Amino acid sequence: MAIERTFSMLKPGVLSRRIAGELVARIERKGFDIVGMKLMRLSPALAEEHYAEHRAKPFFGELVGYICSGPVIAMVLEGDNAVRMLRALCGSTKAEEAAPGTIRGDFAMHTGLNIIHASDSPEAAAREIALFFKLEGWKQWLDLKDCPAGT
Ligand code: RTP
Ligand code: MG
Repeated sequence: MAIERTFSMLKPGVLSRRIAGELVARIERKGFDIVGMKLMRLSPALAEEHYAEHRAKPFFGELVGYICSGPVIAMVLEGDNAVRMLRALCGSTKAEEAAPGTIRGDFAMHTGLNIIHASDSPEAAAREIALFFKLEGWKQWLDLKDCPAGT
């Protein structure tokens, strides 16, 4: 199985509900390696670019409004088949279809507040990682195979 990277974002409700540690623990316990992580606040421009595929949808305004409403935790996660594995761990998009035991199934009652984002394909993962971790220092860090000693 090929090692892969995916992009994930803990949405604003996570920090406001103080469940970030619990969700990061579940991601780690599953077996993902966290290779990039930062707390940030999305600008409307970044949110619109990230969710560009939904621009014409009726929920687009609410989606952008919510994702910009407070700080998020953006992550690059690594592991075997990471894109599909993380989607499975997150659960279905629609709140009423997200199975108990998945992150969305256990932590979200509403589709628009479904607590976690996960890239839906390797191509989307590459695009999203580049979008969120584009500063030169991050690019160098993510290109490294191992952490540099003593830094
Ligand atoms: P995400 O991009 O956040 O990981 O979610 P996803 O792939 O499971 O679902 P997607 O179709 O990409 O939708 C993006 C986000 O839009 C909100 N949404 N609301 N009201 C609705 O019918 C509706 N549909 C989607 C959700 O917050 C979803 O995560
Ligand atoms: Mg999506």
